[in-house]
Amino acid sequence: MALSQQHPLPEPPPYMEYQGISFPASNVKKETLEAMKTFEIRDDDVVIVSHPKSGTNWMYEVVHKILGGKKEKSTPIGLELWPPEKQPNYIQLRETPSPRLMYTHLQHQLAPPGLTAPVNKVKAIVVLRNPKDVCVSFYYFSQKHKYLKSPESWEQHSKDFLDGKMPFSGDYFDHVLGWWQMKDDPRFLFVKYEDMKKDFRSSVKTIAAFLEKELTDEHLALILNSCSLESMRKTLEESGKISVRKGMVGDWKNHFSAEESARFDQKYRERMAGTGLEFDFE
Ligand code: A3P
Repeated sequence: MALSQQHPLPEPPPYMEYQGISFPASNVKKETLEAMKTFEIRDDDVVIVSHPKSGTNWMYEVVHKILGGKKEKSTPIGLELWPPEKQPNYIQLRETPSPRLMYTHLQHQLAPPGLTAPVNKVKAIVVLRNPKDVCVSFYYFSQKHKYLKSPESWEQHSKDFLDGKMPFSGDYFDHVLGWWQMKDDPRFLFVKYEDMKKDFRSSVKTIAAFLEKELTDEHLALILNSCSLESMRKTLEESGKISVRKGMVGDWKNHFSAEESARFDQKYRERMAGTGLEFDFE
């Protein structure tokens, strides 16, 4: 008897294509992506922008705590998501009183015009992380999330990543460089995951200054403590979320072959040349 007859394999979750990028159909619909074109960004919105697996949840928690949610954990709201059996997040957000905090993994050209060509005083924080660690983090994430297709193998996954075939984000370099166009806009702050790891205290102070929030020593200490890797691991595990794994810089060295690493380096050099953007890989 064939193996599949003994143990029927679960169907891979369906994806849908939108402007060349695939999205898990159970969480993102064409309607929600179309709605981005007219989604209104308000003066006092704070939007976290990131390629998936760049430290979105970490940044969200930091910003939530800076903005005053000292005790309770945040409930991150993804702008383009439509959680099963709920209303689309953009509708919920339309009804949410100001000030609002949200995140998006959308590429620049798919995001609301209020973010990509802003006229209001919105504050956007773009979290960036080196592509090799993002690729590894995405690999484990895709294995665990039921709405994502589980990678066939590490080799296939890293190839797909480099070929720009990631769900939600498409091509890493298009994603990062699309948002990097906003680097001179004072409404935008760019923060690298590697810098947060290197000096979390000064990163939090920079983020608070950007948000125009004064932090007392006590408030700062609370943020440093409650947003540490171990505290977040504990809180997120308690709430059934799986966003905290190793939380380190350089885990890619445990996964990449020399050839894979060289292919990434070559594409990195080609795409980043002349942009002024570069990453630490260890
Ligand atoms: P790894 O899989 O490399 O461990 P996102 O929130 O965008 O999905 O990103 C997830 C990545 O951020 C994971 O990386 C996760 O471990 C890391 N992360 C989450 N909270 C963190 C924290 N407090 N400190 C450092 N890394 C954190």
